[in-house]
Amino acid sequence: MVLVRALFLAGAFAFITAKEVKVTIFYESLCPYSIEYLVKQAIPGYKTLSNNIKLDLVPYGNAKTVNKSGTLEFICQHGEGECKGNRYHGCVLDLNPIDKASSYIACDLAADDPSDDKALKQCANETDISWTDLKKCVDSGKADEIMAKYGERTNSARPPIPGVPTTFFNDVYDEELSDDAYTSFVTVVCSFLDNEPAACNSF
Ligand SMILES: *[C@@H]1O[C@H](CO)[C@@H](O)[C@H](O)[C@H]1NC(C)=O
Ligand SMILES: *[C@@H]1O[C@H](CO)[C@@H](O)[C@H](O)[C@H]1NC(C)=O
Repeated sequence: MVLVRALFLAGAFAFITAKEVKVTIFYESLCPYSIEYLVKQAIPGYKTLSNNIKLDLVPYGNAKTVNKSGTLEFICQHGEGECKGNRYHGCVLDLNPIDKASSYIACDLAADDPSDDKALKQCANETDISWTDLKKCVDSGKADEIMAKYGERTNSARPPIPGVPTTFFNDVYDEELSDDAYTSFVTVVCSFLDNEPAACNSF
């Protein structure tokens, strides 16, 4: 009886607090589809509903990690520039709260070449992020450790990600929702929220 009651309370509590949805996005920094999605849908959508979204960005995508007896190397789908961009994104996520980090990432991805030092640096300035700390993270082994972790997360995703970008909602992959989010991110997020916030009504 006590157990039943405890479960009931836990259930009720979960219902009342289900006003947040976790959104995990697997992407890579030079993939045109990832760029389009993050710049036009996911990050602006997150800004609109930031109180209701736990945003979890995973900048790795189709990269491969090679561990040569302790020395980490990465092979990225769109070449070395993409590995560089992923490193900056991984470091910015490691060093900053998600609202700030996502602003940096949106700024960088909107540049003509997101892997160019000019964009990487100027976006740090525009989003009030320390370029010195960011560059230090990228140039040290720290970025490689971060990348290796993102690689493990990406490779252990179940089901395996079918490509990039892929979006999981509350740690679950649903092909239709992930596809719909590509063009209607806010609408998909709102479908998860019990008491739809005002921002949902305008979509
Ligand atoms: C890389 O390999 C070394 C052993 O050669 C191991 O100690 C280390 O944990 C590995 N690093 C990662 C990130 O897998
Ligand atoms: C951004 O650039 C301006 C002009 O160069 C400078 O005054 C400012 O301190 C920079 N901001 C950061 C956060 O680096």
